[in-house]
Amino acid sequence: HAPLRVALVGLGTVGGGVIRLLQTNGNLIARRAGRTIQVAAISARDRNKDRGVDLSPYEWVDDMTTLAAREDIDVVVELIGGADGPALTLARQCLAAGKPFVTANKAMLAHHGLDLAALAEKTGIALKYEAAVAGGIPVIKGLREGAAANEISRVYGILNGTCNYILTTMEKEGRGFDDVLKEAQELGYAEADPGFDIDGVDAAHKLTILASLAFGTELDFGNVAVTGIRDVIAADIAEAAALGYRIRLVGVAENGPDGLFQRVHPMLVPTDHPLAHVDGSLNAVVAEGNFVGRLFFQGRGAGEGPTASAVVADLIDVARDEYGDAFAMPVAALSPQKPADAGQR
Ligand code: NDP
Ligand code: HSE
Repeated sequence: HAPLRVALVGLGTVGGGVIRLLQTNGNLIARRAGRTIQVAAISARDRNKDRGVDLSPYEWVDDMTTLAAREDIDVVVELIGGADGPALTLARQCLAAGKPFVTANKAMLAHHGLDLAALAEKTGIALKYEAAVAGGIPVIKGLREGAAANEISRVYGILNGTCNYILTTMEKEGRGFDDVLKEAQELGYAEADPGFDIDGVDAAHKLTILASLAFGTELDFGNVAVTGIRDVIAADIAEAAALGYRIRLVGVAENGPDGLFQRVHPMLVPTDHPLAHVDGSLNAVVAEGNFVGRLFFQGRGAGEGPTASAVVADLIDVARDEYGDAFAMPVAALSPQKPADAGQR
C-alpha cells in the first residue's frame, strides 16, 4: 500500500508528540495500519522555533489554507486549538474538499461539531477526534464503537487533567493553586488560555461531545451549567478531607424523560469512590449502559504522550479506511436538543 501522507498543522505539545511518536513507533504503526504513516508537510506560526525534534525531513507550509486542495496530502491533522479562527477555517476547507480530518480540538467540536460532521458526511470522509476528550483514554472509540449497542442513561467523570492535577497536588503536597497551575502549564497539560481549564469550560466542551455520543443527541454546549475550580482554596480541600471526601471537578450528563441535563462543577467525592483515586493528570469517564452495565475508563487525560497516542490511533483508522459517522450516527438521526430545566432537578 502507498504511505498515508499527513499534513500536521500545529507543532506544540501535541503536534511535537505526534512527530515523536511516529518517529519512535513508526514500524509497529505501519504493521498495524497496513501502510506507513508519513508526515509529509508541517505548519505552525513560527518556522524558526526550536521544537526539540528534527523537522528537517518535512516540508514546511506557510499557508495552511493550501492544504485542503493538495492531492499529495491524504489527511490533515489540526493541532492548533481555538473554537473558531484558523482551526475552523481549515476544518471546513478540508471537509468540504473531501480531505480526511483529524483534530484534538474539543472547543471547535463543542461549538461547530454538528456542522463539521454534516460536511464530512456530505463528502463521505473521516472526521476523527479521539484526542479531543480525555487525552489518551480511548473513550470516543469506547462509546462510539464498543458501547454502540447500548442505551446509555448517564455519562460522567473527571474530564480535565489540569484541574485534577491542581486539586490532587494541592491536597498531597500542600502547595498553592497558582504554583501548581504554573507547573501544569509547564507539563503541557493546560490550554493556551488556562482559564478554559480552571473555569470548567474545557471539561464542558468534552462533556458536550460525550453526551452527544452517549445519547445520540445533538451537541448542546450552550446548556451545560459550568462552575470551575478557580475559587477552591487549600482550606476547602482540608475541610473535605476531614469529612471523608476529596474535591474533584466532575462533569455529569444525564438523559431522562425531562431532557438532557449537563453540568460541570467541583464535587465532594467520598474517599471510597473510584473517582476519588483518580490522581494527577489522570482522567476517568464512567458510562452506564443498559446491557453492558457500568464502564469505567481511566488513563492520562492530558500531556504530550497520551494525546499523541490518541491522534495517531485516528490516523491508523484513516490509513485502514475505517470511517463511519463522526457522532456515531448520521447528523439527521441525532435527536434534537431538549435541555432539562435544572430547576426541576
Ligand atoms: P500548543 O499551544 O502547545 O500548540 C499549538 C500549536 O499551534 C503551536 O505549534 C502554534 O504555533 C500553532 N498555532 C497556534 N495558532 C496558530 C495559527 N494561527 N496558525 C498556525 N499555527 C498556529 O497547544 P497543544 O499542543 O497543547 O494543543 C493543541 C490542541 O490539542 C488544542 O486544540 C488543545 O485543546 C488540544 N489538546 C491538548 C491536550 C494537551 O494535553 N496539551 C490534550 C488534548 C487535546 P507556534 O508553535 O509556532 O507558536
Ligand atoms: N487542557 C486539557 C486538560 C488538555 O487539562 O485536560 C486535555 O484535553
